[in-house]
Amino acid sequence: MRRKLAAGNWKMNGTSESLAELDALRSAHPAPQVDVLICPPATLVTSAVVSVADHDIAIGGQDCHAKPNGAHTGDISASMLKDAGASYVILGHSERRTDHVEIDGLVRQKTLAAHASDLIAVVCVGETLEEREAANTLDIIAGQLAGSLPDVLNAQNTVIAYEPVWAIGTGKVPTTDQIGEVHDHIRAKLEQRYGEGVGRSIRILYGGSVKGSNADEIFAVSNVDGALVGGASLKASDFSPIITALEKA
Ligand code: 13P
Repeated sequence: MRRKLAAGNWKMNGTSESLAELDALRSAHPAPQVDVLICPPATLVTSAVVSVADHDIAIGGQDCHAKPNGAHTGDISASMLKDAGASYVILGHSERRTDHVEIDGLVRQKTLAAHASDLIAVVCVGETLEEREAANTLDIIAGQLAGSLPDVLNAQNTVIAYEPVWAIGTGKVPTTDQIGEVHDHIRAKLEQRYGEGVGRSIRILYGGSVKGSNADEIFAVSNVDGALVGGASLKASDFSPIITALEKA
C-alpha cells in the first residue's frame, strides 16, 4: 500500500553537464514501477525539471528556508522551489544539521513551510556512531522525530529518511537487523503520534552507502520503503540498478 521511492540526493555535486544523467535515467526507466526522485543542487532544479518533462521522475530541493520570503541572503524558500517545478524537498539532513547547526525545531518549521507550499518533505533522522555505541540510537531517533515533525502531517506530504550519520559516504552499512530495528521503531512512533492509518502509510527510506550491490538485501527489510542515495545517485549507471532492485522488492 506504500508506493516505494528511490530518491537521489546529489548534494553539492553537478553542473549542467550532469543533466545528461537524467536523460540516461529516463531512457533506462521509461515507465518506472516505483517513484523516482532526484534532488540536484538548487542551481539545477529548473533545468532538471525541464529534462524530466513528460516523465515520472520527480525533482526536489535539498533544503528550504522556514520563511516564505524576506531578507535571508543565500537562502531559498519552499515556494521558490515549488515555483521552479520541484515537488519534494529534503529537510534536516545530517549534513545540514552539522554544517548549518540545524536543530529539530528549525527542521519542524521548515517542514511546515514545505507543506504550506505543497511540497513533499523528506525529513531525515539518524544517529552518530557515538550515539549508537552508547546504545542510544532508538532514543535519539525518537527525539528527532518528536522535534522535527509537526503535529499535523500525512502520508502524501511527508516521507521519513533514516540515515545513520556513520553510514553516510563511508561504505559502512548497518546490518539488516539494525536497519529493521530502527525502521520498526520509526513506524511505531508514527502510528503512536498520528494514528494507525496515517502512521502506517508514511514511507520510510533508508539512506547511507546504498549501492546496487547491497540494495536487494536492504529493500527486503521490513518497513524499508525505498532509499535516499547520495554517491550512487550521481551516475545513472549506478542509480539505475537501485531503482530496478526496488521495483523487484
Ligand atoms: P551516501 O549514499 O553517499 O552514503 O549518502 C547518503 C545520503 O546522505 C543521502 O542523503
